[in-house]
Order: sequence, then structure tokens, then C-alpha cells
Amino acid sequence: MIVIGSGAAHLMEEIVRAGVELANVEIKKFPDGEKYVRVLSSGEEATVIQSMYKPQDENIVEALILGDALRGRGFDKLRLVVPYLAYSRQDRVTKEGEPVSVRAVMKALGIYYDELYVVDVHNPRTLRFFPGKAANISPARAISEYFREKLGEGIVLAPDKGARERAKAVAERLGLEFSHFEKRRISPTEVRMRPVDIDVEGKNVLIVDDIISTGGTMIKAANLLREMGAKRVFVAATHGVFAEGAIERVGKAVDELAVTNTIPTPVSRISIVHDILGL
Ligand code: R5P
Repeated sequence: MIVIGSGAAHLMEEIVRAGVELANVEIKKFPDGEKYVRVLSSGEEATVIQSMYKPQDENIVEALILGDALRGRGFDKLRLVVPYLAYSRQDRVTKEGEPVSVRAVMKALGIYYDELYVVDVHNPRTLRFFPGKAANISPARAISEYFREKLGEGIVLAPDKGARERAKAVAERLGLEFSHFEKRRISPTEVRMRPVDIDVEGKNVLIVDDIISTGGTMIKAANLLREMGAKRVFVAATHGVFAEGAIERVGKAVDELAVTNTIPTPVSRISIVHDILGL
């Protein structure tokens, strides 16, 4: 039985089309803005799908109170599927006194849920903060299928070394070469970005990352590829967090920008519903 939270309402139609059984749940807001949920179905096992984009904190609290309500209804086993996990980038202390925010979120979710599945979590090592079973859901199948024809015999690049595994997963499905950009310090004031050990001249290139926020990373990479003679430049990311104006800025710099539907945006053209239901 599937429970769809407010943060995943945009996926409802596709989930229903897939023929899964939806729980009967009421979700609304009190006049003061607090959330109210009520679970009317009963059963033994349930999977809550809740994406945690803006309003992030509200979507996290809703996942918690849905868990509480489901336990109250006697559900014995609860899974939580999170298309976009908020706070995932706050995964280390950089200044004394800061929290590891993603740890706090995962621990809180662990009070109610036995299993946690996150689509393309920013840092897979953070899944260990969840007290139960936790796993990453890769968007590689969805992204590679979307770009297969457009990319042809092209190459796949990650904008930095940290995203290399993402580029590799997509490239392997397409049977293409992959690499990543590296940053080299040329002088105290100049840092140069270059793709490592790969020739982009005359080739179609797909740049893959987990998150686009301001778009700065992707625009810089795309401009460099153009200077180096790349043919067509495509950009894909799992989570379109998009700061104000970012879609337009990235869109202008590349041949196509497409993200998955973990967060609903005007360019969320790649569906991960198949992947989150295939658990
Ligand atoms: C960073 O660690 C992430 O993986 C993305 O590369 C980053 O969030 C992109 O940010 P922006 O779009 O602001 O350059």
C-alpha cells in the first residue's frame, strides 16, 4: 500500500497509472499552518513517498506524522521513499558548532520508518545515519534512456570528481566513454577546469550531476566544452533545486537542460517513478 505525501503529489497520476494500491489518507493544514494527517486505511505494510523540496521542513514533518499515524493504525512495517532529500548537502561540520543536518533528519525519520530509499542521495555515505536499512535509488536508467538518441555516439562527463560515479553509471548504460572535470590551480588567482583524459572536439557531450542550484557549475562546464569544440552540449541533473533564474541561465548555455521529476519544475522531463516503484 502506497501513501503519497504532499511533496510527491506531482507524481500521483503516474503512480496511479502504474496500478499500485493507494492508501486512503487525508492531508490538510490547520488554519495556523500546521499539518493535519489522518490515515483511514489499515494494513500491515506501507510505503510512504515523500519528496522534501520547498517547503522542506514542512515536508519532513509531514513524513514524520504520517509515520506516527500509520503506526497508530497498526502498520507493522513502514518504508519511506524520498525522491529528493532535503539537507543532504549539509553532511559535514565545516565550522565548529554546526550540525550534520542530514544526520539529524535521517535519525528523526528512523523513529518511524524501518527502511529508507533515497533517489540519488548527495553523499551515499550519509545513508549510514539512518538506523534501519537504507539504500540509494540510481536515476541512471531514466537519464540514460532520455538522452540515448540525442547523445548518439557522444560522451558523458561529471562536472567534478565527486560526481564521477554518476557519469559512469549513465555512460555504462549507453556504452559510451565518460570522464570528469578537474580543477587545476594555475596561479593564486586562477583555477582552470578541464575534462580529464578525454577529447570532446566534435562530440556530443552530456554533463551529469545530482543537483543544479544556481546553475554556475553547469554553465562553467558547458562554456568550456564549447570553447574546446564540443558539438552539442546537454545537461542532466537528478534534482532541479534551481535558484531564481537558474533554468533560464542554464537553458541559454546548453542545447538541452533536463532534470528528473524528484522536484517538479518546468524542465522535469525525466521520470523516476518506474525506479521508485520497482523496489
Ligand atoms: C555540489 O556538491 C552538488 O553536487 C552540485 O554540483 C551543486 O549543488 C551545484 O550547484 P550550482 O548549480 O549552484 O553550481
